[in-house]
Amino acid sequence: MKKLLVVSGPNLNLLGSREPDVYGRTTLPEIEAMVKERVAAAGHEALCFQSNSEGAILDFLQREAPAASGIVLNPGALTHYSYALYDCLRALQTPVVEVHLSNLYARAETEHFRSRNVTAPAAVGVITGLGPRGYLLAVEYLLGRNG
Ligand code: DQA
Repeated sequence: MKKLLVVSGPNLNLLGSREPDVYGRTTLPEIEAMVKERVAAAGHEALCFQSNSEGAILDFLQREAPAASGIVLNPGALTHYSYALYDCLRALQTPVVEVHLSNLYARAETEHFRSRNVTAPAAVGVITGLGPRGYLLAVEYLLGRNG
């Protein structure tokens, strides 16, 4: 049985009420339930974790990633500056699909820092701008991967 991790960074606990014009109305528990259902239907297990603290995310990944076969990761704003998270992903070597609900590159036209992504080079791939469906696409990829 595969174990997938679904890891969410700062402020993603506010989904549903946070800037709904940007992030939509779906809450994080709803996204996690959707992912768990899909993973369970394939006979596998998903373990979900959110924190506003960079250190707590690193601790979780260091503890859980070695026994996991894939990670769906939305680092939130850590995407744009966390070399600690980049280093952690590199060290762990569990395949990561980075997911963003919003389109970072469209938003970067007015918010420049969003085009800077320091974690993506440690990911297998990045899905950005497809809303909650991006999580399901990431799961499909990871479930279909060998190992
Ligand atoms: C986000 C995009 C980031 O730029 C932002 O800081 C977030 C959410 C997204 O899912 O679109 O917190 O990762």
